[in-house]
Amino acid sequence: MEARHHLYLLVVAFVFYEQPVLAVSADQSSVVYPWPEPTFYYAKEFFYLIDTDHFDFRATNNTCNILKEAFRRYAAIILGSAGKEQQSGAVNGSKSTTVGDSVAEVMVQVNTPCNDGDRPNADSDESYYIAVNAAALVMANEVWGAMRGLETFSQMIYQGDMGRLIVNESEVTDKPRFGYRGILIDTSNHFISVPILLQNLDAMELNKFNVFHWHIVDDISFPYQSEQFPNLSDKGAYNKYTHVYSKTDVMQVIEYGRLRGIRVIVEFDTPGHTLSWGKGQPDLLTKCYTGDKPNGQFGPINPILQSAYTFLDSLFAEIGRLFPDDYIHIGGNDVNFSCWESNPEIKEFMKQMNYTALQLEQYYFQKVLNIVRDLYRKNIVWQDVYDNGVLSAGTIYQVWKSDWQSTIATLTAAAYETILSSCWFLDNISNSNEWIKYYQCEPYDFKGSMEDKQRVKGGEAILWSTYVDDTNLMTKIWPGASAVGERLWSDISVNNVTAAFPRLIEHHCRMVRRGISAEPLGPGYCIKEYKAPV
Ligand SMILES: *[C@@H]1O[C@H](CO)[C@@H](O)[C@H](O)[C@H]1NC(C)=O
Ligand SMILES: *[C@@H]1O[C@H](CO)[C@@H](O)[C@H](O)[C@H]1NC(C)=O
Ligand SMILES: *[C@@H]1O[C@H](CO)[C@@H](O)[C@H](O)[C@H]1NC(C)=O
Ligand SMILES: *[C@@H]1O[C@H](CO)[C@@H](O)[C@H](O)[C@H]1NC(C)=O
Ligand SMILES: *[C@@H]1O[C@H](CO)[C@@H](O)[C@H](O)[C@H]1NC(C)=O
Ligand SMILES: *[C@@H]1O[C@H](CO)[C@@H](O)[C@H](O)[C@H]1NC(C)=O
Ligand SMILES: *[C@@H]1O[C@H](CO)[C@@H](O)[C@H](O)[C@H]1NC(C)=O
Ligand SMILES: *[C@@H]1O[C@H](CO)[C@@H](O)[C@H](O)[C@H]1NC(C)=O
Repeated sequence: MEARHHLYLLVVAFVFYEQPVLAVSADQSSVVYPWPEPTFYYAKEFFYLIDTDHFDFRATNNTCNILKEAFRRYAAIILGSAGKEQQSGAVNGSKSTTVGDSVAEVMVQVNTPCNDGDRPNADSDESYYIAVNAAALVMANEVWGAMRGLETFSQMIYQGDMGRLIVNESEVTDKPRFGYRGILIDTSNHFISVPILLQNLDAMELNKFNVFHWHIVDDISFPYQSEQFPNLSDKGAYNKYTHVYSKTDVMQVIEYGRLRGIRVIVEFDTPGHTLSWGKGQPDLLTKCYTGDKPNGQFGPINPILQSAYTFLDSLFAEIGRLFPDDYIHIGGNDVNFSCWESNPEIKEFMKQMNYTALQLEQYYFQKVLNIVRDLYRKNIVWQDVYDNGVLSAGTIYQVWKSDWQSTIATLTAAAYETILSSCWFLDNISNSNEWIKYYQCEPYDFKGSMEDKQRVKGGEAILWSTYVDDTNLMTKIWPGASAVGERLWSDISVNNVTAAFPRLIEHHCRMVRRGISAEPLGPGYCIKEYKAPV
């Protein structure tokens, strides 16, 4: 039924926009179709003008700074999309064409109290309802849903002839399919500056993502400036002055995300991927041996030294104070045993404990899990931790290898929670048609009961920064990640590539209009092209 509405609307919108003065373009042909697709969206062939002189939002019930900030943001987005020419001239060709029929005030009703300091979390309610008629209303249970509704509302407004802003009489009911809709950015292979990270949070809000997974350090560099261990970034960052994230930087990113209903989950990946840590923290890493001599190389964190755990305990306590989310990502991917197995002290320890290297890793992980639990934090790990035999209640396993169906089936059947990433490695984009593969990857496409499937909490698109820096980060992520965004937000039945394509083209132009350097999806143009900052 809903699908039929959608098709009908698309066709109607197309016919309508062939007529007006403005040239038909990617911008206009399928305009007023929000992305990701709402659960229920119905627009009548009847519209209202936006009264741009008096336009504003009004909180009718509960309000807080988060909501007020969202009002400011969306008023600017909506009014900013109006051209100068809109202030004069009448709209032609409609049943309702007088200027008196205009929307000046949007009432926003949040049904539960919201406080200035609230944070989004795994249980945030992002559902909302919109009704546009003589009075426009956005209603939500929580402020997080109101924000998603404001985004949709902003996408329902379009420019008619003479450049005037228009919104159709319409009704929207919407909620996300998955509660966890993330994007990973690696800031170690290349340093990504704070303004670009913030810009990406804007783009995430536009695409209804709600988790920024900050893969902040790795083998190559250590840009996180620790208060307790300044040597980590002094020695491990590319540049200790210019290529670091200070405490203030981190707080700015978290706050910017919070105001957009986006959680920031930081990852400190151990015991592997830690070569940069070793530069500022002597004796942390395993010395690799060739025969009976150290060969000058280093391996994963040395799991047999108490000093390693004391250090991690202090570092994670600091991280826990700075990053408020309920979850910390503790990594665990690609642990290479060969260095551990070459080191005589570790060999001796393994012999005494009767451990294999695998069991040694399990021993390490139990200790790190205890450290994180002592901070009252839940954790996410890469699937490798499960592959290597560590199963821990309350952990979310991030599945990234290609045989994801069997891994997710096993994990969820054993009642563990997972998020999926295998299909969504953004750094491997060869051309923009890659979005089709992203779009067609269905997280429920594995053998399991409905109960098992509900243990898939969502997914995450991943951008390793090996070939990515400030110059191309946004372009690499968008609009590819938009396909992931719709997969994770919209109903399972919204999976028709042909139907999605024109909407995605329009969405691409919408992003470009808002200043996001999303790359094109093929030949064509946007009415308002991207303007590079000068
Ligand atoms: C919006 O209203 C106009 C004018 O009545 C109509 O031509 C157009 O098709 C409507 N748009 C949608 C998406 O229904
Ligand atoms: C919200 O406010 C409106 C009036 O502005 C009132 O009619 C309604 O009962 C309120 N709803 C809640 C849930 O408080
Ligand atoms: C409105 O449409 C009519 C006929 O379709 C046309 O003659 C007239 O010039 C149009 N007015 C404007 C302001 O576009
Ligand atoms: C940092 O490293 C220097 C040696 O380069 C050392 O002297 C100093 O004690 C270290 N600082 C801390 C806090 O460990
Ligand atoms: C593991 O590390 C050793 C050096 O310690 C290296 O020779 C080997 O290629 C690594 N294995 C993998 C799979 O990366
Ligand atoms: C060592 O562990 C293996 C299995 O992991 C077990 O079969 C063996 O009995 C153990 N040896 C000792 C001395 O505990
Ligand atoms: C991405 O591309 C690299 C290099 O071409 C390749 O090694 C890697 O396996 C690819 N990853 C995925 C997930 O396709
Ligand atoms: C997919 O969408 C296209 C275009 O809207 C439509 O023609 C086609 O029938 C749809 N396919 C399915 C399987 O629904």
